[in-house]
Amino acid sequence: MSDNQIGIIGLAVMGANLARNFASRNIKTAVYNRTFQRTEELINNHGNEFLNGYEKIEDFVNSLAKPRKIILMVKAGAAIDQVIEELKPFLSEGDYVIDGGNSFYEDTEKRVKKCKEYGLNFIGMGISGGEEGALKGPSLMPGITKEDWPKFENILDQIAAKDFQGQACVTPLGYGGVGHYVKMVHNGIEYAIMQMIAEIYDYHRKVKGLDAGQIAEIFEKINQSENQSFLSEITVQVLRRKDIESGKFLVDLILDRASQKGTGGWTSIEAIKNGIPTTTIMEATMSRSLSFLKNERNNFSKIIGRTFNDDEASVDWNQIYRFGSSIAFIQGFELLKEASKEHNWDLDFVEVCRIWQGGCIIRTKMLIELQEMFKKGQKWVELIQNNLEEVKKFILSSTQNEIALPAFSAAYNYFLSMTDKDHPANLIQGLRDYFGAHTFERIDKEGIFHENWLNE
Ligand SMILES: NC(=O)c1ccc[n+]([C@@H]2O[C@H](COP(=O)([O-])OP(=O)(O)OC[C@H]3O[C@@H](n4cnc5c(N)ncnc54)[C@H](OP(=O)(O)O)[C@@H]3O)[C@@H](O)[C@H]2O)c1
Repeated sequence: MSDNQIGIIGLAVMGANLARNFASRNIKTAVYNRTFQRTEELINNHGNEFLNGYEKIEDFVNSLAKPRKIILMVKAGAAIDQVIEELKPFLSEGDYVIDGGNSFYEDTEKRVKKCKEYGLNFIGMGISGGEEGALKGPSLMPGITKEDWPKFENILDQIAAKDFQGQACVTPLGYGGVGHYVKMVHNGIEYAIMQMIAEIYDYHRKVKGLDAGQIAEIFEKINQSENQSFLSEITVQVLRRKDIESGKFLVDLILDRASQKGTGGWTSIEAIKNGIPTTTIMEATMSRSLSFLKNERNNFSKIIGRTFNDDEASVDWNQIYRFGSSIAFIQGFELLKEASKEHNWDLDFVEVCRIWQGGCIIRTKMLIELQEMFKKGQKWVELIQNNLEEVKKFILSSTQNEIALPAFSAAYNYFLSMTDKDHPANLIQGLRDYFGAHTFERIDKEGIFHENWLNE
C-alpha cells in the first residue's frame, strides 16, 4: 500500500524525533536509515500504524503516496548527494526531496538544479529547535514556493511550533536556497546572543564575585520581562545545575572551549561577501575560536595578571540584554535583506519574525516588537535608544576591570557608528589615494578626484 504521507531518511536525533512528531499527529510516516539498527530501535520503541520502518530504500519509496515527499535528516554535506543518488532510481517525476539538515545554501541551490534535471523537486528546509523542537514542534524555514505550498501546508502546519498568536511557525519562504539561508542567519544570531549571555555571566562572576546560582537570578528577571527568551531560560537551568558527584555548580566544571559546526562562520563570510556589518555574529564566532586557544591563554595569563574590583556599577541587566539581542537580530535582518535583494527572494520579514517566535533556539518575546517594527516601517534605533545609558555603564565597568566584551562592544560600536553621520573614512580615503592613487569623492564638488600628495 502506498499510503504513507511523508518519508524520513536519517534517524539520528533530529530525524527520529521529527518522525515521531509527524506520527503523533496521525500523519502516516515512513522511515528509513542507512544502518537498519536505528530504524529497528525507533520502530521497536515507538512504531505504530502511523510510524512504519523499512529496511530497503526501494520499499520505503514505494510505500509513499505520490507525489512523494521525502525529508532527508542525514549529516549535512556529501551524504545528501549520496542519498539523492540512491533514491533516484526509485523516484518518479514530480516527487519532492526535502533537505531538513543544516546545508549550506549554495549547495542547496546546486541540488535544486541537479534534481530538476532528474525531474525531481528539491527543497531546502531549515529546521530549528534541536531534539525537543523536532519532537514537539520546531520552527520550520522551508524554501517552498507559494505554488507548491498547498501540497505541504497541512502536514507542516501540524508538526510546527506555534507563534504568539497560535499560528504555525512555518511559511513558504520561496525558491532555492532561501530556507537554508534564513536558517544560517538564525544560527548566526544564536551565536551572537549566546556570546552576550556568556559575557554577562563572565562580568558577574569576576567583577561582582557571584556564583552561578546567583547569576541565574539575573536571567530569571529577564525571563519575567518583555525580553524573555528561550536562550535566557535555558541559561537559568544551566547555571543552576549542580554536579552530582562534587555538589559544585556544573558550569564551573565545564572546560571553557566552545565548539562550532560552521553556521556562524558561514554567516560571517556571507556578511563580508555582501558588505553587511554583522559584527556581533562575527565577534561571537571569533570568540569561539579564541576560546580554543586555551594553552596560549593559560601561558599569557601568567604574565598579565588580573585583579577585579567591584566598582559599584549598578546596571539594569534587562536593558543590557535587550540592547545586545536587538542588535544581533537587526544585523541578521540586514544580511537577510541584502541576500533577498541579490537572489530575488522577496523575503517577507514580518513572516520571518513570526516563524521564529516558537520552537526555535532564538525565540523571544522581542520578536513581537521586531515584527511590529517591520509592519510599521519603524527605525530599529528607536527600539533601543533608551537602553544606551545602561550599556555605557556596563562597557565602562568591564573596561575598568579589564574584561573582554567582544559581542557587547561590537553591538555598542555598531549603534554608535550607525547613528554617527560623520565617520573618519575621509582620512582612510586620503591615505588610500596617497599610496595607491585610489581616488576619492569630495563633499563640496561632484566628481572623482586624485591629489598629487608628494607635491608640497
Ligand atoms: N542536532 C541538532 O540539534 C540539530 C538541529 C537542527 C538541525 N540539525 C541538522 O539536522 C541534520 C541531522 O542532524 P542529527 O544530529 O540528527 O544527525 P547527524 O549526526 O548530523 O547525522 C547522522 C545521520 O546521518 C546518516 N548518514 C550519515 N552519512 C550518511 C550517508 N552517507 N548516507 C546515508 N545516511 C547517512 C546517519 O546514518 P547512520 O545511522 O547509518 O550512520 C544518521 O542517520 C544535520 O544536518 C544537522 O546539522 C541538527
